[in-house]
Amino acid sequence: MIDIEQMFRGFADVCTEVQRRAVELENEPDRRKRLRPFSLKETADILGVSQSHLRNLLRENTEFPQGKSGESGRRTFSIHEIHAAREWLLNSTGNARYRTHRTDGEGEKLQIVSFVNFKGGSGKTTSSTHFAQYLALHGYRVLMVDLDPQASATALFGIHPDTEVNEDETFAGWVRRDDLGRDAGDIAKGMIRDTYWPGLSLVPASIALQSAEYELIGRVRDERPFFRELQAFLSKVGGDYDVVVCDCRPDVGMLTINALVAASGLVVPIPPQMIDFASSGEFFRFMSEIARDFRTSVSRDMLNYDFVRILTTKYKPSDRSQTTIVHWERALFAEAALEHSMVETAMMDSAGILKETLYEYEPVGNRRTYERAIEAMNEVNALIEAELLRIWGRGRLRLRDLEVA
Ligand SMILES: Nc1ncnc2c1ncn2[C@@H]1O[C@H](COP(=O)(O)OP(=O)(O)O)[C@@H](O)[C@H]1O
Ligand SMILES: [Mg+2]
Repeated sequence: MIDIEQMFRGFADVCTEVQRRAVELENEPDRRKRLRPFSLKETADILGVSQSHLRNLLRENTEFPQGKSGESGRRTFSIHEIHAAREWLLNSTGNARYRTHRTDGEGEKLQIVSFVNFKGGSGKTTSSTHFAQYLALHGYRVLMVDLDPQASATALFGIHPDTEVNEDETFAGWVRRDDLGRDAGDIAKGMIRDTYWPGLSLVPASIALQSAEYELIGRVRDERPFFRELQAFLSKVGGDYDVVVCDCRPDVGMLTINALVAASGLVVPIPPQMIDFASSGEFFRFMSEIARDFRTSVSRDMLNYDFVRILTTKYKPSDRSQTTIVHWERALFAEAALEHSMVETAMMDSAGILKETLYEYEPVGNRRTYERAIEAMNEVNALIEAELLRIWGRGRLRLRDLEVA
């Protein structure tokens, strides 16, 4: 007979030991995540200039950030150098497309983009983290808020949710601020941490964030305010940022409702499969009901978005039924559907194992696959960025048709 009690106690010890070793391994100094340098082509793309123009700038201006030449003779640039190069371009050309930080006085309000959908696995975390990193690469000041207790966005930023994130360091800290006996401003600041991405800060999540969900449900019952907490938090800290990106859990619970209420724009990722449309249909019906409830019981101004965009994710163009669905989607959602899709890519798997995004991953030997993937990701992100620029009244300045520096 197996002694189950003893056996499971043994298994529990094994799990603790494996976890301890894994944490140790990942925390070795040379394993800590850091950002790779970017090639000349990537740098030119990020700055929005042609490669030949970038080469001229490098040749003709000694004060222009020069990057580093590797063993292969290839020049690379750190993200700091890319930002310095953009600054240089702004100062020397005066062209507004090199200006990224917003100016409150000019009506450039903080933009809060929430990635939402009922369904798990639809690409919310992938899309939101890549969008946040894209914005940081392009010089914006970004705050990413992980509102999913599963904390996959937090883990992507190299932080162990279980061992490195206390409850008070998640959004739950803000929700419970009255109980904590500390200054609300200090609590808010304590939730935000820098990442190895310059210009990208994070409010991490962990399973402890679930307590905020329960706390907020309790408030609904007691008829206490429950839906403006994220908004209140962002009104405290938002001045330091251009864009806030929220990654949501795959449901419309209290945390997601806070993200919906605070948001100025929504992105709804949907893979082009029948099953995903069924659940997304439920999602939109539910959204419609929430909007009606809030507007009749709170204010007409609730859930007014500057934009709502459907983003096709994990698209396999070689699959006939998927191309048909995407075709219908474009026709029926009309301009609400983003005109570029994120294709399904094997790169996401290889990058995923290492917990790296496409922007972090350094391709080895699979350049073409990588380039196809990153190009699709950049196209999608540029479209969402264009929405932000439109709202700031900057038109579509960053798009490639303005290829003159
Ligand atoms: N474009 C893509 N190609 C291939 N795999 C993808 C792609 N986008 C997402 N995935 C994978 O699908 C899974 C679910 O994506 P995720 O972004 O975590 O969804 P959600 O946050 O909506 O639950 C992850 O394993 C992710 O790596
Ligand atoms: Mg997710």
